[in-house]
Amino acid sequence: MLKLIRIFAFLLIAILGGLWGLAWYVRAPGEAMGDAFLRQLAQFGGADMPAPSAGGVQLPQGIALGGAFSLQDHTGQRVTERAFAGKLGLIYFGFTYCPDVCPTELGLMASALDLLGPDSARVLPMLITIDPARDTPEALADYVSRFHPALIGLTGTDEEIAAAARAFRVYYRKVHPPGASDYLMDHSSFIYLVGPDGKVRQLFRPNTPPETIAAAIKGQMRQL
Ligand code: NI
Repeated sequence: MLKLIRIFAFLLIAILGGLWGLAWYVRAPGEAMGDAFLRQLAQFGGADMPAPSAGGVQLPQGIALGGAFSLQDHTGQRVTERAFAGKLGLIYFGFTYCPDVCPTELGLMASALDLLGPDSARVLPMLITIDPARDTPEALADYVSRFHPALIGLTGTDEEIAAAARAFRVYYRKVHPPGASDYLMDHSSFIYLVGPDGKVRQLFRPNTPPETIAAAIKGQMRQL
């Protein structure tokens, strides 16, 4: 019996070690080892890649996020996914009244762009508001300028914002915190790296280090 347990333990360690090695070998540029390992573990168990879990997750085949949108930028110009032609896009959905998460994520995006140096000219960073009632082009112009000179703020009608959010499977909802004088928006928080076709290539969960984001962008640039 003891021998059986030993053999079982040995096999388990061998399998996990093998998956770790495989994860190291096949992981995407910029993808954290832990994420790559979980992906291998999930595949080994016959499961699909667990949804957007991780730092620099590469989307599994068959899952398409992103695509067409038509919105208005903070200077009043109409912007669609065609703006990404020949470039990459870095997109975040948030709102200017957000007390903490949005400023943090936009700061990380700005740091990632700075880390890219001249290469950042091939990246279009965008903030798409999920609070169009308050985030007018003027409000967005003031807000985006605090983070990065290249950051573009995008707003639109309720329907246009809803369509863009649907394409990226972004969740958002108005909430009224007790005691607060105004409403807030509850929303999902991922940074999306999109290709020249506007489709998501990779996404980053909250608090992904800017070095990871910059490395993923460089990896995708090689495939441009
Ligand atoms: Ni927020």
